Amino acid sequence: MKIAIIYDSITGNTKKIAEAIKEACGENEIIFGNMDTDVNAVDLVFIGSWTDKGNCSQKVKEKLEKINHKKIAIFGTAGFGGSEEYFNHLYQRIKQWIPQTNEILGYFYCQGKMPLTVKDRYIKMMTEHPEDKKLQVSIENFEKALTHPDGKDVEHAKEFARRMIKRCV
Ligand SMILES: Cc1cc2nc3c(=O)[nH]c(=O)nc-3n(C[C@H](O)[C@H](O)[C@H](O)COP(=O)(O)O)c2cc1C
Repeated sequence: MKIAIIYDSITGNTKKIAEAIKEACGENEIIFGNMDTDVNAVDLVFIGSWTDKGNCSQKVKEKLEKINHKKIAIFGTAGFGGSEEYFNHLYQRIKQWIPQTNEILGYFYCQGKMPLTVKDRYIKMMTEHPEDKKLQVSIENFEKALTHPDGKDVEHAKEFARRMIKRCV
């Protein structure tokens, strides 16, 4: 089977998951790359994105809109959440860009660390709005995200990839 693994990653989190998926693809023929990759000749497309304002990146959106008649498996990383509910919400958002000629096999998300500038911004906001309890939660989430994607995330991504491949054969 021919498999494309394409991803958009700014700081490397989504790339790490893409590489885990690649490892799990075994003997299959792999095309690995960015959103410029031609996926016309493949049977299965793994497409991954970082999360930007509660959605996939603009590059991923534009690519998805052009893919037709493929089996698609979605993956991504997100700074917030860490909960299945949030990840499902992200999946529902990304799903809307995929033409109906495709078959979506499933999705996988995990948390991904954010740049330190994000924490600096929260701290600045806290000094301006000490009454805002949500900011403390955001800082705690920031700290939690720092170790992700971790070894477990990588293992889960591999399991996801194997499950998706099984659904194609
Ligand atoms: C401009 C910007 C916007 C972001 N928006 C969100 C968001 O809405 N939700 C979220 O969970 N994470 C958000 N993040 C966090 C990233 O999606 C997260 O750190 C991701 O793992 C980065 O992936 P990458 O290393 O592959 O680029 C945002 C990060 C940046 C820089």
